[in-house]
Amino acid sequence: MKHLLSIQQLNRADIDYILGRAAVLKRERGRHPNQPLAGQTWALLFAKSSTRTRVSFEVGIRELGGRVIFLSANDIQLGRGEPIKDTARVLGRMVHGMVMRTYAQSDVEEFARYAGIPTINALTDEEHPCQILADIFTIQEKRGPIEDKVVTFVGDGACNVATSWVWAAGKLGFELRIAAPRADQPTQEQLRRAGGNVICTEDLHAAATDADVLYTDVWVSMGKEAEAAQRLQDLASYQINQALVKLAKPGALVMHCLPAYRGKEIAEDTFEAHAQTIFDQAENRLHVQKAILEWVVA
Ligand code: CP
Ligand code: NVA
Repeated sequence: MKHLLSIQQLNRADIDYILGRAAVLKRERGRHPNQPLAGQTWALLFAKSSTRTRVSFEVGIRELGGRVIFLSANDIQLGRGEPIKDTARVLGRMVHGMVMRTYAQSDVEEFARYAGIPTINALTDEEHPCQILADIFTIQEKRGPIEDKVVTFVGDGACNVATSWVWAAGKLGFELRIAAPRADQPTQEQLRRAGGNVICTEDLHAAATDADVLYTDVWVSMGKEAEAAQRLQDLASYQINQALVKLAKPGALVMHCLPAYRGKEIAEDTFEAHAQTIFDQAENRLHVQKAILEWVVA
């Protein structure tokens, strides 16, 4: 039984397989000879909002031959306090796979343990593995192998997306720079566990210099709304804008996992100048989700 709960649990061969299949599935969209989810019904259980992840999984499951039901966490008994492990043991007897977006990483892990069906992490407070796989796919599609690249993450360096980038750096050997205030950087313990070439700094300009990719995410992640005022103040200078892009390599990619808050983590003109890349990145969520689905059921 395979799950995709964290980049940490993938090995290099798994990542290469998923990214390779995503390229084929992208090329052959609408003509997939394999329907690995035929006869299956998958559930999406989401406790947080989503546009890209929800739609890419719903469409992807259908295009691989499966059926899908969407469950808002608040609309099922989970929202009234039914334990995860009971929800898991019920759903595990009714559906063939789960895509789950929630708060604690331990909740998706507990679900996977009790449900006995392939379980995919569609974002937790700690990780967003499907996003980072699509991001790496996008970088490689546009610029070739990621191994020799410098990826600079700007903003909340301790958020779920940044954390998944740190695990990916440990697996794939590219240089990851995280430009963030000290309090919003990954912990020493996480860096030690991940390994890899990861530099954390408060010096935004040094981090951006000669980078191949400038990447950002929202300053205030879902679930952190109570800290919004403080976070906006602390992160105010950690913005991707034209001045920062000038420091990066000529032709550097500017990427954003979306949704974007213009004038906060990214300037409006920079966002629009790089919209082609950013929306290719969003589209690639679909192709990579399908490869992830194929991989978990293989
Ligand atoms: N990037 C991302 O996961 O977007 P959604 O929150 O819309 O799914
Ligand atoms: N860090 C963001 C990612 C959104 C896709 C959040 O958790 O809200």
